[in-house]
Amino acid sequence: MTAAEYFEQMYASSSDPWHLAERPYEQRKYEVTVASLPRGRYRRAFEPGCSIGLLTALLAPRCDELIATDTVAAPLATARAAVPSEHVTFAEATVPDAWPAGELDLVVLSEILYFLSAEDRAGVLARVLESLSPDGHLVLVHWRHPFAEAACTGDHAHAEVAAASGLVTLVQHLEDDFRLEVLGRG
Ligand SMILES: C[S@@+](CC[C@H](N)C(=O)[O-])C[C@H]1O[C@@H](n2cnc3c(N)ncnc32)[C@H](O)[C@@H]1O
Repeated sequence: MTAAEYFEQMYASSSDPWHLAERPYEQRKYEVTVASLPRGRYRRAFEPGCSIGLLTALLAPRCDELIATDTVAAPLATARAAVPSEHVTFAEATVPDAWPAGELDLVVLSEILYFLSAEDRAGVLARVLESLSPDGHLVLVHWRHPFAEAACTGDHAHAEVAAASGLVTLVQHLEDDFRLEVLGRG
């Protein structure tokens, strides 16, 4: 099964296969994520793997423009209904192949990197580095425990970015279940 087939199958079995809307862990993770943003407002943000748009809804008031994508179409209908703002655009698209053209001052990678192969994680990082503005921020937030479908752990994915990106860590939040880093060009 390809990664795309896996995610299609997950959404065929449930409109919210990870119970993002129900789990206190998820809600708290989203709140910690937006509380960690170093700036009050961002000009142009990108959130790939947005699923049903729960984090998107919290990011939207902080962004002049927000582009949110998912590799599966099904959750995007829920996301569009949850976040009807005109400055938020949802699209069915897969990173790293599909990436917004132009400069971004915020990229949020929340629970997506470990679903990607090492090659695709490197591709995502290359896209981040090409598109991130001099004052831009990259947010990484991932579950820390191993699970069957993951190509690596969240800790490994974050360490990879820290080692390869040349970005500096501006914010770090570490707890048993998830870790978060905000990186910038320094
Ligand atoms: C575990 S959910 C995380 C949702 C949300 N970002 C969060 O933190 O709660 C992962 C989402 O990423 C999407 N996804 C997986 N690989 C992707 C890719 N290469 N490009 C875009 N979306 C992808 C999946 O379809 C799924 O909706």
